[in-house]
Amino acid sequence: MIKHCYQSKREQTGSLLIFLFLLLAILNSCSDEYEGIPIDKDEAYDLEKPSGFPQMTFDITGNPITVNGVALGKKLFYEGKLSRNNTISCGFCHIQEYAFTHH
Ligand code: HEC
Repeated sequence: MIKHCYQSKREQTGSLLIFLFLLLAILNSCSDEYEGIPIDKDEAYDLEKPSGFPQMTFDITGNPITVNGVALGKKLFYEGKLSRNNTISCGFCHIQEYAFTHH
């Protein structure tokens, strides 16, 4: 019975070759060339706190607000695809005209 658990030399070589082929395929798929659309150099965002809003309480020195960061946040905030049925974004409930409160 135990004999059947062992692979023959030929099978072992075959397995090793398949493993090496897959390893090469994986390594080959990693490339340093970026094929997406390069974004513009990011700039600091001049945040104007709306009147009536409290002072920020968290430290943003390690993660400063940038123009691209704000654009990404806005896109995600109004992106319905993040919901289970692809239609309800954060902005669906948190309406800007009402200071992003729920209405
Ligand atoms: C279906 C409506 C709905 C959607 C969609 C929704 N929210 Fe809310 N959100 C609420 C409600 C209602 C509350 C208040 C909950 C409470 O106070 O118990 C709230 C509270 C919050 C708060 C806390 C506000 C505070 O003053 O404490 C934050 C932050 C927030 N939501 C962010 C988000 C973000 C980010 C998204 C999208 C990823 C989102 N919400 C999507 C309804 C929604």
